[in-house]
Amino acid sequence: MKKKIRFVVNGRPITMDTDDERALLWVLRTDLELTGSKYGCGEGICGACAVVVDGKAVRSCTTPLKNVAGKDVLTIEGLAREGKLHPLQQAFIDHGALQCGYCTSGMLLDAYAFLKAHQNPSRDAIMAHMERNLCRCGAHQRIIDAIESASR
Ligand code: FES
Repeated sequence: MKKKIRFVVNGRPITMDTDDERALLWVLRTDLELTGSKYGCGEGICGACAVVVDGKAVRSCTTPLKNVAGKDVLTIEGLAREGKLHPLQQAFIDHGALQCGYCTSGMLLDAYAFLKAHQNPSRDAIMAHMERNLCRCGAHQRIIDAIESASR
């Protein structure tokens, strides 16, 4: 059923009339044309669709739009500010922490929320957390290196 819903994406207030049971991922990608969040499994398993909602990483493929009413959503399009890459983005480049790049936006946003919540985490803690994001290219080691260096 259509409902009016208000939320904020990357600092931009959004108001829409739509079915609030729709997955956030498709609202971002199709309605708002923010295609950095990727569709991988569609079941909350791979992390390709991760975005940050009120400071916490969520899987946008399994998050109904109604869950973000009145909240702040951060997507990969909002991570760099004023033309400057976020330190995590720069660290991914410096460490070559990607191959095809399909998982990268989800990796970055999940890591962003993790580092906001955990100051100076151990490498083991980073590894344990990032296990929930899948990279089919096998770049996990470099992804962990990048996150560890951005956290120092
Ligand atoms: Fe959402 Fe895989 S596409 S977790």
